[in-house]
Amino acid sequence: MGLWGGRFINESNKLFKEFNRSLSFDYILAEEDVISSVAWSKILMKSKIITEKEQITIESALFELLKEIKENNQKILKSKCEDIHSWIEEKLIQKIGILGKKLHTGRSRNDQITTDLKLWCRKKIHLLLENIIELQKTFILSAESNHNIIMPGYTHLQRAQPITFSYWCLAYVEMFRRDFSRLKDVLKRLNVSPLGSAALSGTAWKINREELALSMGFDSATNNALDTVSDRDYVVELLSSASISMMHLSRFSEDIIFFNSGEADFIELSDTITSGSSLMPQKKNPDALELIRAKCGRVHGSLISILVILKSLPLSYNKDMQEDKEGLFDSIKTWNDCLCMAILVLKNMQIKNESCRKAAEEGYSNATEIADYLVKKGIAFREAHNISGQLVLRAISEKKSLNELKLSVFQMYSNLIQNDIYKNITLESCLEKRMSKGGVAPSQVYEEIIKAKKRLNIF
Ligand code: ARG
Repeated sequence: MGLWGGRFINESNKLFKEFNRSLSFDYILAEEDVISSVAWSKILMKSKIITEKEQITIESALFELLKEIKENNQKILKSKCEDIHSWIEEKLIQKIGILGKKLHTGRSRNDQITTDLKLWCRKKIHLLLENIIELQKTFILSAESNHNIIMPGYTHLQRAQPITFSYWCLAYVEMFRRDFSRLKDVLKRLNVSPLGSAALSGTAWKINREELALSMGFDSATNNALDTVSDRDYVVELLSSASISMMHLSRFSEDIIFFNSGEADFIELSDTITSGSSLMPQKKNPDALELIRAKCGRVHGSLISILVILKSLPLSYNKDMQEDKEGLFDSIKTWNDCLCMAILVLKNMQIKNESCRKAAEEGYSNATEIADYLVKKGIAFREAHNISGQLVLRAISEKKSLNELKLSVFQMYSNLIQNDIYKNITLESCLEKRMSKGGVAPSQVYEEIIKAKKRLNIF
């Protein structure tokens, strides 16, 4: 018989029982369920619902159980219990007998599950925040040690304008910095305690919910029990943060996969994170990055899944909400794994200075400079753009780069072009001119690296 014993005459159907169970996945909330149960026992004692002696007995039995869980939480899976709450209660009753049955006074699994889940999310958010910082640090150190490597920047996957590898690194630092602040935001709104909301309308016992909240490290207690047991916004927000960050990790992967391709040949990935081909001996495949790119899909899937689960649910708790967990657990693990993998890839990657520079020189990525040069000589930008385009066409037909065109050829297109054109269209000049905020100028990028090192306490 389940937890609801008295009301039922017949046993549950076996198939239904299996279908209804969540222990196979919510067992990972065991520690959180013990923590929230200990806090609950303390508040029951403070409210004089159980005695001090009873509370001590309950607490020490729960901590004993916690020790067993920490040693091996997989053994929970052998049980036939419906979920982690019933498993903990069953074990408690086995340890201390009838007293164990008092713990659930004034509490419901509805406030219990969302409390446990919030505690779990909070723990994972701290880990994720650390790894997002670590990834930013890795980008910054790579930017610093590869300073002044010039490479092409792309739009539409066409060589567009020269950039530096450091600058590319700092672009990702910005993205993961936003991910960090987004995750902090999630934490802020999540850290409000549901416990004591009971089934849906609050507990009938005189419980100081604020005190209870603080005892579990929450900032306060929730305002409305009906909302509290219905609320999974924090799951949506967390999965949304995960989805955005995974999208960044996937774009990073795609960039690196391209840089590693024979066609670009900008980097050398380490043997330690690549795999070979069983047939083609020359291959070194960027598996780690391809997997990150693909795993992004499962996290996005979990976000869509929770949104669809919640979208038409009436207030308050509905069993549909049990389906919030597997996608969340999987996504948090996936996100964290991918952060660690990205760190590993970056730390073990060599940048090929010469082929990066060669690619930047080859793609007419300095064509904008010719247009800007002409603008400085008094020609309107649209007109200057047109002349520069014609020069690119000319250079293509001569199989030359723009800097290799003769001055006489330049002057066929505009007699305003002088010998100083050459120093204006070097890669270095393209970079150095971009000194306005956010631009690629190496001195500015260097300053940004210093600032980022300070911000992240890198010495
Ligand atoms: N296993 C349930 C879940 O994950 C716990 C809450 C059950 N509440 C209930 N009223 N059946 O959502």
